[in-house]
Amino acid sequence: ESADKGEYRHYMLKEIYEQATVLQNTLQGRVSKTGVLEEAFGTEAKAIFDQVEAIQILACGTSYHAGMIAKYWFEDWAGLPCAVEVASEYRYRKTVVRPNTLFVTISQSGETADTLAALRSSKESGYLASLTVCNVANSSLVRESDLRLMTLAGPEIGVASTKAFTTQLVALQLLVIALGRRGCLSAEKESELVAGLLQLPELCKQVLDLDGPIQQMSEAFSEKNHALFLGRGVQFPVALEGALKLKEISYIHAEAYPAGELKHGPLALVDSDMPVVAVAPNDELLEKLKSNLEEVQARGGKLFVFADAKSGFSNDHGTTVLSLPHVPLNIAPIIYTLPLQLLSYHVAVLKGTDVDQPRNLAKSVTVE
Ligand code: G6P
Repeated sequence: ESADKGEYRHYMLKEIYEQATVLQNTLQGRVSKTGVLEEAFGTEAKAIFDQVEAIQILACGTSYHAGMIAKYWFEDWAGLPCAVEVASEYRYRKTVVRPNTLFVTISQSGETADTLAALRSSKESGYLASLTVCNVANSSLVRESDLRLMTLAGPEIGVASTKAFTTQLVALQLLVIALGRRGCLSAEKESELVAGLLQLPELCKQVLDLDGPIQQMSEAFSEKNHALFLGRGVQFPVALEGALKLKEISYIHAEAYPAGELKHGPLALVDSDMPVVAVAPNDELLEKLKSNLEEVQARGGKLFVFADAKSGFSNDHGTTVLSLPHVPLNIAPIIYTLPLQLLSYHVAVLKGTDVDQPRNLAKSVTVE
């Protein structure tokens, strides 16, 4: 049943639409109304969690982007220093391990060769313990890690990862809270974060309902060769993930930049032939982002902005705005990923590429 496309034309679209349900599943039994239920991490977790002073995250591809987002959360809410690296680089260099560092891998399949090799090599490096955020029970990463938190996304068939990514973000946020409450995360903040997480299924549905206008937007991309994705702060990795999705399935060259870096290079590329996508929740960097986007407009760039309804963007010359409902900031990276998934999906369909099996790519890369 789970491997059936049902009413959907592609697995990827089906998996995008499953997100309200699987996000709910990944939260189920792991939070109360006000806090995280630590039993979710297993009985051995407490003794390890009590000692954690730093985090090292390793992953590849989309899972690496989830790690980049989690770094903002670990440092912002839990006060824990957090490093993130792609496993294929990390495993081949000499690294310095801080005392009491938790080694965290993130993987949909649990079999990615580089991530698994990084975990294996970490065992000799003096880490406190290992934890994996993984979608496949009994996979190598799950079996070989000290602790595990499963994402309950169900089987993901489309090569381009969608529901695995958003459920990884939920699982990682639960980990941040569980560790943060041992340090600087107050009970009040924990309950605010959990209240945000509990709104995910409903807000996810509302945003997926914007499919019509996103499909319309996709027409502006299908004939283009390049696209630029911009975000600031925790939305920068969201922009990276949006660019990766577009590359993977539509074969359009896409890059992502933190918007403040525009002036250090990418602005030279901006013209009316390169669509620029921006993710703009109503956060503390909104005003900064707006002035970055004015630079794009001033150079004749075509802007596509996914923005909080209250963020004050308007459709005008060269700018298309898609308003999203106001969302709690802790779930904004999850919610703002959804329209980017739909956008790349529709561009790929217009281009007629093989959405579920893009050329040259594999779902799970088990060789180096
Ligand atoms: C491949 C897939 C990507 C995935 C990456 C990491 O490149 O095509 O979608 O993000 O591997 O896979 P993992 O299973 O470790 O998350």
